[in-house]
Amino acid sequence: MQAQIKTIKEKAIHEIEKTEDLKILNDLRVKYLGKKGELTLILRGMGALSPEERPIIGSAVNKAKEEVEALIIEKEEKLEQQELNKKLQEETIDITLPSTKIVRGSKHPVNRVIEEIEDLFVSMGYDVEVGPELETDEFCFERLNLPKGHPARDMQDSFYITNEYLLRTQTSSVQARTMLKNTEKTPIRMICAGKTYRREDDATHSHQFSQVEGLVVDYKERNVSLADLKGTLEVFVKRLIGENLDLRFRPSYFPFTEPSYEVDVTCFKCSGKGCPLCKQTGWIEILGAGIVHPNVLRMNGYDPDKFSGFAFGTGLERLAMFKYGITDMRYLYTNDVRFLKQFDRKD
Ligand code: PHE
Repeated sequence: MQAQIKTIKEKAIHEIEKTEDLKILNDLRVKYLGKKGELTLILRGMGALSPEERPIIGSAVNKAKEEVEALIIEKEEKLEQQELNKKLQEETIDITLPSTKIVRGSKHPVNRVIEEIEDLFVSMGYDVEVGPELETDEFCFERLNLPKGHPARDMQDSFYITNEYLLRTQTSSVQARTMLKNTEKTPIRMICAGKTYRREDDATHSHQFSQVEGLVVDYKERNVSLADLKGTLEVFVKRLIGENLDLRFRPSYFPFTEPSYEVDVTCFKCSGKGCPLCKQTGWIEILGAGIVHPNVLRMNGYDPDKFSGFAFGTGLERLAMFKYGITDMRYLYTNDVRFLKQFDRKD
């Protein structure tokens, strides 16, 4: 009996040592130690032994079982470790490699300017309005005192989609929309920024550009005057671009304001000395503005005997150029990330 145990044990040890496979190792466990395993069967058959033999054989089998079990566990750990090492080797991850950078976009300078203007005007009690880029002739021109055939339309020769629909040539269309929406119910203080389109394409103009519009309409008794317009624009330009700039109001013409002005600001490049950018004048035109024309008030639901106000409009690309010292407008639209990235910093 003892010899049989020894043979089984040695066979088991031999097979365990030989195997390099976890599954086979598990089969061996069943084969020797399982319910019907070879060593287990000897224990079962002990009933046939004499009482003296029983404890001797019993302890011999148990010892053999323990030895085999220990060996299997040891081998199991070794094989598992080997498998892990193999996996680690095959799936090498070099943790010293720099990670792939996630490229984060940055705000476009024109959008930065829009946000800053909106913040400033909201702080002065204005509402921020929006209007459609695909606009009707009615809102883009007619309701702004520019009937069909008006010569001032020529300056905005534009992208008509149909006879009635066009890409808006000015954010002034939102003046009419805002007035009609309110119709004498309330005084108006609004600004609106957005894209505008004209059929122009040369070194200093692009067929798509951006404007911001401002409109104030209030009861006549409140006396909204040119002085208010001037004060507002001074705060606007100085806050946005620089406190040391001068503003100049030149008489001009817009069909929707009377009187009308063009507003110039000291050239940022030469500080007013005269240079090619300002055509040697020392000034750069940035704004159109004026007192809202009575026809415009009337056409859009505000009685000009009871209400008056001012309006202004400006190109945002110009303002961005001034603010950031950009000397060529085309940089704003060529999508060169190296250019755009320069503005990606905390202000
Ligand atoms: N809409 C005018 C333009 O595009 C600017 C303007 C706005 C002038 C409001 C007066 C009042 O040229």
